[in-house]
Amino acid sequence: MLYLGIDLGTTFSVAAYVNDHGQPTLFPDFHDANEFRTPSVVHLGEEGCLVGTPVEEILEDEPGLPHARFFKLDMEAKLPVFTDSDKREWYPQALSALVLKKILKDVDAFAHEDIGGVLIAVPANFNDAQRRATKLAAQMAGISQVKLIEEPVAAATFYGVHQAGGEQTLFVYDLGGGTFDATVLQSSEDGLYALATEGSNTLGGKHIDERIVRFIVEEFQRQHGFKPDDPASQQVLRRFANEAKHTLAKPGKGRINKTLVIGGRTLEFILTKDRFHQLIDDFVDDTLAVCDKALRASGMDWSFIDTVLLTGGSSLLPLVMDKVARASGKERDQLVCKQPHQAVAYGAAILAQQAFGQASGKALQSICSYDLGIRTLGRDGQPAVKVLIEQNSAVPASATTTFYTSRDDQTRVIIEAVQKRGEGDGAEEKSLGYFAFGPIERPRKKYPLEIEMRYDLEGIVTITARDPESGRQIQQVMDEETEALDKALFEQRGWLQKMDVNV
Ligand SMILES: Nc1ncnc2c1ncn2[C@@H]1O[C@H](COP(=O)(O)OP(=O)(O)OP(=O)(O)O)[C@@H](O)[C@H]1O
Ligand SMILES: [Mg+2]
Repeated sequence: MLYLGIDLGTTFSVAAYVNDHGQPTLFPDFHDANEFRTPSVVHLGEEGCLVGTPVEEILEDEPGLPHARFFKLDMEAKLPVFTDSDKREWYPQALSALVLKKILKDVDAFAHEDIGGVLIAVPANFNDAQRRATKLAAQMAGISQVKLIEEPVAAATFYGVHQAGGEQTLFVYDLGGGTFDATVLQSSEDGLYALATEGSNTLGGKHIDERIVRFIVEEFQRQHGFKPDDPASQQVLRRFANEAKHTLAKPGKGRINKTLVIGGRTLEFILTKDRFHQLIDDFVDDTLAVCDKALRASGMDWSFIDTVLLTGGSSLLPLVMDKVARASGKERDQLVCKQPHQAVAYGAAILAQQAFGQASGKALQSICSYDLGIRTLGRDGQPAVKVLIEQNSAVPASATTTFYTSRDDQTRVIIEAVQKRGEGDGAEEKSLGYFAFGPIERPRKKYPLEIEMRYDLEGIVTITARDPESGRQIQQVMDEETEALDKALFEQRGWLQKMDVNV
């Protein structure tokens, strides 16, 4: 039996398993045995579905080719994010499923073994909708046994393999292609315990690239008097910005000097390392502010941290390393940055063996990354959230509260469930939707209804209601928006079943 760990990334997806010698190992690409990552990019055209490197290669010659990428950042979208040449509209769940299908083909070509379970890593800061969407993507790809794990937990697990043991406090700084997670963990002989986590879906390599694109566009506008904003130009700019970033991240490279052709016009482009660092200085500071929040929530500061673990491709940027070293009071070479592109998939593979197979390992304690509660009207008549489970509580966790009907003839109670974190200006609030419970058989004013909210081990929320007088569970009625989404996704599941991913 094969147990897979998959890092379903914003920009790259990677799959790993633990080989017979106990080593986590990546699966190579079907066509290229030296390539172990699949760019998370999809093209759907007349000739079928293409995923990964072939799409990138076509885009080099045909930058206008319709394609979908970065859909992981829209994972909670209740609307489609891409229209194919047949005018079919695709949701992020289905696009992610296509990436997974491509990966499963690679696995199948390499291993010829049945898959006993798949552990998919998700950012710690993924909310309920994003986690559900990821699981659904796996199911749409035909994976029947799937569980989720947090990316920093997977990375720390991989790191633990190389560690002699002992008690220590870890900080995982995970700056990927589109997301950032900052997590404080305690590691001991027997277990790995998450203490606090904070994160952002607007801090990642994509957002760094966008800053470089903006810089080039301003220069272009100065020289040519207009902004190149057609899709083909955007694609050329995006690719170029990404290449420039990679070049400037290398030691010794102090500047880039290149002639660009965009929309039929040329641009003499110069970007020095210093200017690049100016462009992203506040971006890196923003990641450090997120780190401070995580530290504060765990009741610590940097001086408590024994080991800082850097993961995610963007953590390779020299400015990131310098600033993290300075903030954490460590030397740059004390930061642990081992295989930052693979660490999450490797850790997920190790944990997949434990989750689905016979392997034993350290105990794991995950936490929830959002407060969970119900939106109510406060005393002042303003909407407020009554928090039932606080962010950074150990999961699984559950809590109950009692609601009372307000009218004699009221047979249903409707609540809005909310995930939130932070206060004031930086507060984030995400509605999980409206949940209607009923019918109440013998309604009367002030009839009580007990609502239970629960985080499971994977950070997924369930909400149930009980009539405390009869002990009966009261059914949940689905809201219209969720019903419409379910219908659309059911249809997409049908498309996917009939569709082959060309590899
Ligand atoms: N040496 C490097 N220097 C700077 N940036 C890099 C380097 N290598 C990779 N990156 C950037 O890292 C990002 C990809 O990292 P990674 O594969 O860890 O992300 P991901 O898993 O796709 O995204 P996420 O974890 O956010 O979902 C890209 O934006 C890429 O440009
Ligand atoms: Mg990643």
